[in-house]
Amino acid sequence: MNVNCHISGLGVSVPEHTLTNQDLEKIMDTSDEWIVTRTGIKNRHIVQDNENISDYAFLAAVKAMDEAKITPSQITHLLVATCTPETLSPSMSCIIAQKLGLSSYSGLQLISPNSQSLVCFDFNAACSGFVYGLELARAFLALNTDAVILLITAECLSRRMNYQDRTTSVLFGDAAGACIIQAKGNALFHVLDVSIGADGDYKDLIRIGGGTDKKVQVGDSISEDFFLAMQGREVFKQAVRGMEQESLKLLQKNNLGVEDIDLFIAHQANLRIIEAVRERLGLSEEKVFTNLEKYGNTSATSILLAMAEAREQGLFKTGQKTLLTAFGAGLTWGSALLSS
Ligand code: UT7
Repeated sequence: MNVNCHISGLGVSVPEHTLTNQDLEKIMDTSDEWIVTRTGIKNRHIVQDNENISDYAFLAAVKAMDEAKITPSQITHLLVATCTPETLSPSMSCIIAQKLGLSSYSGLQLISPNSQSLVCFDFNAACSGFVYGLELARAFLALNTDAVILLITAECLSRRMNYQDRTTSVLFGDAAGACIIQAKGNALFHVLDVSIGADGDYKDLIRIGGGTDKKVQVGDSISEDFFLAMQGREVFKQAVRGMEQESLKLLQKNNLGVEDIDLFIAHQANLRIIEAVRERLGLSEEKVFTNLEKYGNTSATSILLAMAEAREQGLFKTGQKTLLTAFGAGLTWGSALLSS
């Protein structure tokens, strides 16, 4: 379906505190050399004990709203992509809405039947969250062309890292991103099309516990199940296959070839995964943007974080096409086509 959908403001925010490969060498049996050659990651940003990722989501949202020249009262939808919410309930979106001063409840006053109330909810597509969010935004805009959507990605993976497990804890970092999506107004990027998918048969490949599947009582100690666990090698294979297939499908659907793509931004999980997808798609190296060496895998935020830096470097030229692709727990995946 052809939906007029564009990004009119974008912001990202990461914690100041960093965790370098050298820091990790001091607390576990790993090495800078192993991490860099196997993943490309050199550093990650993580929240400190007195911080929460919603603080950073707030900052990212303010930047996106400022750029789009949108005031809090104009926001109709606040959607948060996260697999690491601060609480099971309330949602991150309600927590962030309160911080931003968004409100549609006017006490006992009758709300006009024609006014759009604020819609707030979280969704969990793990690392594919941003691309899933673009499709959700398109769906809301198809229902209401006046919708002003604040799409946030807020991930705090460090609070679900088992720093005794070197196979996962060297990979992830914390970060938040935000963008304003509308059918009208100034466009930084047009969202031309999105394609998303999932397969629950692979649900056990990446898992974060701490939900309601296990009975717990006050005083119980935390088990390993609370932390992120991953079958890395199998995820690697499925990630390459999923991102390649979904990207080709999206290009084909839009009568485009790989040669029509000017910039390629994949979920920033592992340089070797991105390189494998690039090679299979037949894209040239200079079309690929990465910044995972500075942030690690920031799950749903990683594409927004890369887009923000690519923009700072002037890599989005008017009229050019960008292909985004992501992959994550579920398993979930998706690709999006933007023009700038
Ligand atoms: O965003 C969600 C999606 N997640 C991903 O995309 C992650 C996908 N998977 C990967 O990126 C890679 O599979 C990893 C980076 C997780 C692992 O890389 P790998 O090349 O697949 O390594 P491996 O799991 O095959 O392990 C090779 C060796 C093992 O030692 P042995 O059994 O060969 O003696 C591991 O124990 O490397 C060892 N190892 C480490 N050594 C030093 C695993 N982690 C570490 C470490 N430091 N941090």
